[in-house]
Amino acid sequence: MSAEKAAAQQTDQKTFTLTNDETGDSIQLPVLEGTHGPAVIDIRKLYAETGHFTFDPSFTATGSCKSRLTFIDGEKGVLLHRGYTIEDLAEHSSFLSVAYLLLYGDLPTQEQKDKFETDITYHTMVNEQVNYFYRGFRRDAHPMAIMCGVVGALAGFYHDSLDINDPEQRELSAQRLIAKIPTLGAMTHKYTIGQPFMYPRNDLNFAENFLYMCFAVPAEPYVVNPVLADAMDKIFILHADHEQNASTSTVRLAGSSQANPFACIAAGIASLWGPSHGGANQAVLEMLEEIGSKENIPEFIKRAKDKEDPFRLMGFGHRVYKNFDPRAQVLKKAADDVLEELGIEDPMLEIAMELERIALEDEYFVKRQLYPNVDFYSGIILRAMGFPTSMFTVLFAVARTVGWISQWKEMIEEPSLRIGRPRQLYTGPEQRDFVPIEKRK
Ligand code: SDX
Repeated sequence: MSAEKAAAQQTDQKTFTLTNDETGDSIQLPVLEGTHGPAVIDIRKLYAETGHFTFDPSFTATGSCKSRLTFIDGEKGVLLHRGYTIEDLAEHSSFLSVAYLLLYGDLPTQEQKDKFETDITYHTMVNEQVNYFYRGFRRDAHPMAIMCGVVGALAGFYHDSLDINDPEQRELSAQRLIAKIPTLGAMTHKYTIGQPFMYPRNDLNFAENFLYMCFAVPAEPYVVNPVLADAMDKIFILHADHEQNASTSTVRLAGSSQANPFACIAAGIASLWGPSHGGANQAVLEMLEEIGSKENIPEFIKRAKDKEDPFRLMGFGHRVYKNFDPRAQVLKKAADDVLEELGIEDPMLEIAMELERIALEDEYFVKRQLYPNVDFYSGIILRAMGFPTSMFTVLFAVARTVGWISQWKEMIEEPSLRIGRPRQLYTGPEQRDFVPIEKRK
């Protein structure tokens, strides 16, 4: 028995033994266990001791960090934020209380909640110069293109909160981002529809203020519908954080180079835009509109199963959930509530529900454990509330900013922050001599 194995047994440290079948050499790799979920094999010494890298291009079996924020059990369809279920948080909490929970580790007392809400409220305005960035975009620019630009530009304004090594500046930049991104999102919406920007109002809560900035006009008073404000707040809660998804991993990797938080969040927005990720909510509505009627569903199900056809059932499937996405379940009910409140009979909802019913009976989807995800129903609510489909991913970004900045803060506060620098399996040409241009064929 190797000395390492003996030592491991003395400290009941669980290990994996990796053996090189060619040389017979073995290496003991420690197993690390968390609160919930799979244990991990700590491979940090693998290259130094074996000269080999691991290979996991889309990170299907790779833990990139330790985190205390969010836990997902994909098999059971469970989503926890600091131990609280997403169902409980959506039902009983508020978006800013969930933001506080993710940032600081527990739900706020009444006093903490009041102070946090006031702090956020008094950061909702943006520097008046920011308005001029919008003028440079075409009115028909995609709202996410605008958001990528204006959020990154914030780093050019808040020089007093760029030092990531200063806890107070980290706190200030986190609050500024949580408070200002809804304002920028609403300004983006107004700009693309040719209406004047509406300034934030300090007498409104987070969700009310966002709806006001999006839908009020200077020409007349605007009263926020409390049912829509409640639905908006719930949608924000459901989109707040989701473990190490593509955009959160983007924020973490950007932050590992010690880039400022505004730049890191802009990177997260860029990643979220993709239709495989946050852009799926827009793609779902476009898909439902393309399907057009229940009669056309079988044709689209057939296309989704055809490997020769790039069409996928948008809003279906998930890298982690192999059961219902618990967020989709809550959104499906919220869709009913909003449509009933607004007296809207949206044929898209009927098509979506029929599409879900048929897909969940189809062997292709059942075998691959493809269920509706968070994006499947969200668009139906957002459309009913009056948002254009091109704004759906902006709303996702407004909510996910809380998760991104909480994950960023957790990473920066780790004592051993190091730059993330993956390696590769090189499959390019062998080293070769330079060929002068006159000798190239
Ligand atoms: C989000 O990571 C997160 O947590 C993300 C998110 C968050 O909160 O941050 O939850 C938000 O991004 C939700 C996902 C939104 N995206 C979509 O709805 C786009 C449609 N879904 C797919 O593109 C896909 O399901 C992904 C991207 C979500 C997951 O892709 P994976 O894990 O890489 O799965 P895969 O592509 O390897 O698919 C496995 C099989 C394949 O078939 P086989 O090769 O095994 O025959 O399932 C098939 C895929 O072809 N498949 C689908 C499908 N999704 C997967 N077939 C038809 N329609 C689909 N939607």
